[in-house]
Amino acid sequence: MHIHETIAGLRAALKTAGPNKRVALVPTMGNLHEGHIALMTQARDHADTVAATIFVNRLQFRPGEDFDKYPRTFRADCEKLAAAGVEHLFAPDEGEMYPQPQGYHVEPPPEQANVLEGEFRPGHFRGVATVVMKLFQIAQPDVALFGKKDFQQLLVIRNMVRDLNLPIEIVGKDTVRAADGLALSSRNGYLSTTERSEAPRLWRTLTKVVGRINAGDTDFPRLEQEAMAELGANGWVPDYIAVRKKIDLQLPAAHESGLVVLAAARLGSTRLIDNLEV
Ligand code: PAF
Repeated sequence: MHIHETIAGLRAALKTAGPNKRVALVPTMGNLHEGHIALMTQARDHADTVAATIFVNRLQFRPGEDFDKYPRTFRADCEKLAAAGVEHLFAPDEGEMYPQPQGYHVEPPPEQANVLEGEFRPGHFRGVATVVMKLFQIAQPDVALFGKKDFQQLLVIRNMVRDLNLPIEIVGKDTVRAADGLALSSRNGYLSTTERSEAPRLWRTLTKVVGRINAGDTDFPRLEQEAMAELGANGWVPDYIAVRKKIDLQLPAAHESGLVVLAAARLGSTRLIDNLEV
């Protein structure tokens, strides 16, 4: 695997891939787990050349969030990427990505960026959209893959690509879970042993809500309240459990189909997110 720390280096290498070769990009912030590696492997089905990125993007963290403590495990990540057959890794430092303070930003519309995650992490999706746009401009991939665990992020990126006419196919892949249902996440590493055994409750709670909806219950606000109360009774501090339309994350009418149930909650000092499509 070739490791590129500069934009020029990555571009030159991808150019030699050839004009008719499709390039897949898998952007990450590192600390790779099986969910990331599944994306790398699946990328091969969509392209001839697979490139990953590792960059912990300061722009998408708010002051007081976990930017400084976000796990940086570069050597282990490189081994995993090489074993997964990734050809190119772009791993710039902050000076390469932001040689001067970023002046231009991609501003997702408020109805996408200020709800759910955006309500609790103001500015988060502006930071995500801006860095992903930069990564797209840098690598100019034909296709890019993202995990559905970050459901809202995937929607924001899809809509950015559509609205700004980027010639990039966006592919969303299913969340990879531990045997007990917990969605794999770099932040799971923050959990204590006791918290780790409690953590799958988030997925179980979502599963229960989806089960009720599938059984015909359309009182979404009550289902959300009950689910939040269950988490609260077990030591969690939920930010939201929300039944939304998959297409735009807006509130569904009763009996509407194409739904997703999204959740964010704190367990101790760790904030976990998850979602299940109905
Ligand atoms: O999902 C992530 O890891 C990040 O938000 C991304 C897409 C790599 C942008 O920094």
